[in-house]
Amino acid sequence: MINIILFGAPGSGKGTQSDLIVNTYGLQHLSTGEVLRAEIKTGSELGKQIDALISEGNLVPDEMMNGVIEKYIASLPKHCKGTIFDGYPRTVAQAVALTSLLKKYQMDALMIDLMVDEQLLIQRLIERGKVSGRSDDNLNTIRHRIAVYHDQTEPIAHYYLRHGNYFAVNGNYDVEDVFKQVKRIIDREGKR
Ligand code: AP5
Repeated sequence: MINIILFGAPGSGKGTQSDLIVNTYGLQHLSTGEVLRAEIKTGSELGKQIDALISEGNLVPDEMMNGVIEKYIASLPKHCKGTIFDGYPRTVAQAVALTSLLKKYQMDALMIDLMVDEQLLIQRLIERGKVSGRSDDNLNTIRHRIAVYHDQTEPIAHYYLRHGNYFAVNGNYDVEDVFKQVKRIIDREGKR
């Protein structure tokens, strides 16, 4: 089993690379952004509160996200090959919660960090915003999302670096070239 935290700024390619990993390795994929957008679509009161936070580019409270992950891990099938965590953890508190949850089930995770230049992130998200219909794919919100990433999310990379399970990838290349780097890490680490 291999659990992967696919890490990186907004627009770094987490969703895109997750799809390729799923197709190649048959891992489960949990995107917290997708989970939250699905809740918004239901039109529930909770969905409205989430929508207000996401549209501004702010994070949803840790307790809510940790609850989602706890339920997810408890529901994993016995013979699951592993999970790609896409968009989680996003704060140090979430990273601590994930580590202890995985420990409870005798599991661990490695982090793959997709590193992309800021100008390219903005360019990709503006481009996607023309068709995505996502309320957070506009220049002001994109800038705020990137600032939130630097402030609250990026420090987690040091947490995994300290624990020796951190791997950086140059995400500036095209999709296939980035995937080649990701694949090398998974093939090597999956054998350990
Ligand atoms: P989330 O949905 O996770 O969004 P994000 O992190 O901002 O990431 P994106 O989906 O925008 O980008 P991505 O890295 O997946 O890149 P993608 O592959 O799509 O979260 C949204 C919001 O939900 C957050 O802001 C927060 O409010 C909330 N949230 C979610 N999780 C949370 C948590 N744990 N705690 C608290 N709040 C949470 O690619 C982007 C574009 O680039 C695409 O058009 C793609 O085709 C293109 N592209 C990708 N790779 C390449 C490449 N190599 N070359 C050229 N183009 C590429």
